Amino acid sequence: MRISEIVKTLLYGENGYYMRHVKIGKRGDFFTAPHTSPLFGYTIASFLRKEGVRLFVEVGGGEGYLMEDILNFSDLVGAIYEISPKLKEIQRERLSKFKDRFLQIDDLIEADAYVLNEVIDALPFNRFVFRDGRWWEVVFENGKWELVEGEPKIRITPFEGFIYDETEGLEEFLEGILRKTDRVLIFDYGYDEEEFPIFAPEGTMSGYKEHRVYYGLDALREGADITHFPNFTRIKEFAESKGFYVKEYLPQSEFLLKYGILEIFSSLPDEEKARLAGGLKTLLFLFKNHRVMYLEKTRL
Ligand SMILES: C[S@@+](CC[C@H](N)C(=O)[O-])C[C@H]1O[C@@H](n2cnc3c(N)ncnc32)[C@H](O)[C@@H]1O
Repeated sequence: MRISEIVKTLLYGENGYYMRHVKIGKRGDFFTAPHTSPLFGYTIASFLRKEGVRLFVEVGGGEGYLMEDILNFSDLVGAIYEISPKLKEIQRERLSKFKDRFLQIDDLIEADAYVLNEVIDALPFNRFVFRDGRWWEVVFENGKWELVEGEPKIRITPFEGFIYDETEGLEEFLEGILRKTDRVLIFDYGYDEEEFPIFAPEGTMSGYKEHRVYYGLDALREGADITHFPNFTRIKEFAESKGFYVKEYLPQSEFLLKYGILEIFSSLPDEEKARLAGGLKTLLFLFKNHRVMYLEKTRL
């Protein structure tokens, strides 16, 4: 069995993490930028308005915090495309107050922009190992881990022992989105292709469960949030093959600063400033591996 099949079952199967266990937030297994501060969503709202967006789709909206912050801070209309029925229910409750400015969708729709925060890292992935001068895929067969013939779609020259975790079905996933919009804003941790051997020679697979982190194959356990680092080079190249170009690509904290997070913070009433200062600091200093890629369709 391929690792992507195991991850699919553990995350999105009937009893999967995102179907039942999901615990995002301070007391949960992990927290994301929208759980850290509403200023993340406020800055995205301001960015989207400046880009002329009216209707946007968020893919994988989690508990709905990002959508809530964007809609609170703007007059935008937002839709969430989400695969987890449990999270859909939580989003419905949190966002019902926005009435005609929020909708839940079961199929991707045409929109001015798509926004994804930490979604690609939550897609299933496979593991490859470079050993004895060639690539192998790690699979689970006959009750144990085995190496079988298999090769990832990367072009870097690997070294002996290098392990690479590759997103499964990334192109199909992106293609569905790129067909429906001219702008895609992606926030995620991840590396460029040539950075993987330097920053993650042992692979990027990890699992979060009750404040503990499990690395490598140990991450594949029930009730854990299992994740990996997406390859931004692959995202860029696929988008380019579909007529898009990379308009922005920078660390998440730099994106937030460039698009006005400090000015937005300064414009808030004093009591809100006092309440949000800690989260702002966390957002700017803690999300070290997070990057932003903004794709726009090339105009002819
Ligand atoms: C790590 S969580 C991030 C949640 C939220 N964006 C946040 O930042 O808190 C990943 C989210 O993506 C959703 N998801 C995963 N694969 C998806 C897919 N193929 N289509 C739509 N949503 C998906 C999960 O159910 C979950 O809501």
